[in-house]
Amino acid sequence: MIRRAVLLAFLALVAQPRDAAVAASARVEALLARMTIEEKAGQLSFETADWSPARDLYLSDEAEERLRQGLIGGFFNMHERHVARRAQEIAVRETRLGIPVLLGYDVVHGYHTVFPMPIGQAAAFDLAAVEAAERIAALEALGDGVNITFSPMLDNSRDPRWGRTAEGAGESAWWGAQLAAARVRGFQTADLAGPTAIAACPKHLGANGASKGGLDYTSAEITERELREAHLPPFRAVAGFAACFMAAFNTYDSVPGAVNPFILRRILREEWRSTAVVMSDFGALDELERHGVADGPASAAALGLAGGLQMDMATRFFATELPALVRAGLASGADLDSAVRTVLALKERMGLLDDPFARFAASEEPGNPERLGHRAAAEALAERSFVLLKNAGDVLPFARDVRTVAVIGPHADDPTEMLGTWIGRGIFSKPVSVAAGLRAVLGPGVEVIAVPFAAFDAVSDAELETALAAARRADAVVLAVGEAAAMSGEAASRTDIDLPGVQSSVARAVVAMGRPTAAVVFSGRPLAMERLSADAPAILMAWFPGTMGGTALARVLFGLAEPTGRMPMTTPRAVGQIPVHHDRLPSGRPAVKWPDIYSSNYIDRPTTPLYPFGHGLGYTSFAFSPPRLAAGTLDASGSLAVSVEVRNTGARTGTAMAQLYLRNRVAPISRPMQMFRGFRRVTLVPGESGTVTFTVTPDMFAYWQEGDRFAAPAGPIDVMIGPSAGEVQTAQFRYVP
Ligand code: NOJ
Repeated sequence: MIRRAVLLAFLALVAQPRDAAVAASARVEALLARMTIEEKAGQLSFETADWSPARDLYLSDEAEERLRQGLIGGFFNMHERHVARRAQEIAVRETRLGIPVLLGYDVVHGYHTVFPMPIGQAAAFDLAAVEAAERIAALEALGDGVNITFSPMLDNSRDPRWGRTAEGAGESAWWGAQLAAARVRGFQTADLAGPTAIAACPKHLGANGASKGGLDYTSAEITERELREAHLPPFRAVAGFAACFMAAFNTYDSVPGAVNPFILRRILREEWRSTAVVMSDFGALDELERHGVADGPASAAALGLAGGLQMDMATRFFATELPALVRAGLASGADLDSAVRTVLALKERMGLLDDPFARFAASEEPGNPERLGHRAAAEALAERSFVLLKNAGDVLPFARDVRTVAVIGPHADDPTEMLGTWIGRGIFSKPVSVAAGLRAVLGPGVEVIAVPFAAFDAVSDAELETALAAARRADAVVLAVGEAAAMSGEAASRTDIDLPGVQSSVARAVVAMGRPTAAVVFSGRPLAMERLSADAPAILMAWFPGTMGGTALARVLFGLAEPTGRMPMTTPRAVGQIPVHHDRLPSGRPAVKWPDIYSSNYIDRPTTPLYPFGHGLGYTSFAFSPPRLAAGTLDASGSLAVSVEVRNTGARTGTAMAQLYLRNRVAPISRPMQMFRGFRRVTLVPGESGTVTFTVTPDMFAYWQEGDRFAAPAGPIDVMIGPSAGEVQTAQFRYVP
């Protein structure tokens, strides 16, 4: 029963100027003209394929029947080739109009072969490797019939309590935008109609990463400037070519993401001119009632269509409610047509209208991931994702002539834990544990004693005793600590982001054995691990490194590869410092020393982070010169070369990563103290110097003005270069537009 008055009130709330409709081909228009209103509404419905322990994935008889009637536009949770193929065959051969279906799955960091968690991939600072990883993921997913993926997650996170931090690129909107483009290209290639391209559905449009308190599914009540400068750039970077966007669950300005016309219509369609399909997150229309903005399926569906949503994941409200709503004049027929046009245009762009089975044909022989080099690519990216946070007394790399290695802790020998969350079909990828990786890399002449713990937050007396005994007799000790894989990802937010339970105490006891010891920390977020940082001589951040994690770790720990990853997110000392990120606004009373009164300080801890953004050591040391500018001014159409000399001051060949940060030093509004805007690597032998040059252009310090305009007024600009946000040297030029 549609409550007309209530609905009209809802619709008035979201009344917006209609965006420019997606232009469609004559073929799409002809299809649209033949569709019944039920078929149109059905085309917007994305259903979940059924699953049971006995049958695994299947299509229920009812789902098949709805599909035959043209009431389903796509299926979610596809991961079985024969089920996907059957769905496509019914859609193409047994429906009145033969419109193919979208077949979707979350391919978050690999499909069969699991790559590091996206936060680890971001730490690798290697766009080509990330794009290649997504290409591999797409090829593997294609084999199971997937033609669209709910990935990549582009949410900026400045709050490591948020579990989904693990799925993103960290805190820099600039770096997030670079990665976004690389990842979408990896899935889609340059030609979305190509038989091995799969459509990407970046998520979650809105400010999902700004959810208050680091909690999932809640509100992101931030300023429009923060939305536009910190959260939207990765989405904007792919708006011109991403096939789809998934709307966020959270509210922005009190309106849930799935029905937020400011974001879905005004920004995405009008400002960015995107023709992508907008899909709701799983069951989002059903959640509107709990958000308190709808009073049932009908008002939810009406709000969705009016708000700018084109596909409804999992609720079927579009399919069941829109026909009556449109007939009653409570939802716009023009909006319905426009949404269907957008969906059909995507199917056409994907080549599905020409050959719905081309992708099945192209993936007939999936091949062996080993032979195809997929495992080698996963190992190489894992190696690059590790961040050496601390290396007192050059404990690492361990000497290669060891006889006994002890690997201690909950992650010592658990292959599946290496994968992290959202592992696709990776459970079958034969992942390599830390102990197995050490054995494989060190060979049979080295004894590897693994002392795994049964729990992540506790240790039994027997476990501790065995661990200490192993440490005592080892030439090198690896403390394999951190979060369990299930402690990050969706619905895995934490209020305490230190090592779980007793791990810090165990680490202290093991370090006290006095053997060369390195802590390898697994987690989906930076951890506020003050105690471990004080106690352990060496700390290597491993994130969740994926299928080949164990081998990659062994290679880095024993110096066969150098750690070159850098932190894509600031590490707080304690949860109470959050939000702490490199691009925060200055204070009128900056904390120059601690403790200090009447300055922007905490009384119990410094304001500085445990590890700054961009931090990461290698196996040698470097000295950076101050930045040298090619000129003292820059105009609106110009560019300015900025260089530094980097010298290898250590005893090993190594790779430095020079990082560029900018600041509008004086502007009409207060601007962030640092904005990460570039990096360059240089490999140097001991004693060697090299020059690293960046090119600064005005877009790099332009900021949001109004509408979709980014610009900077005249003024001094600070240029900061160094090995991390915490160790920069500064020069200044004047911008004269
Ligand atoms: C909910 C998550 O928020 C989203 O990221 C995911 O794509 C869908 N579930 C489907 O798995």
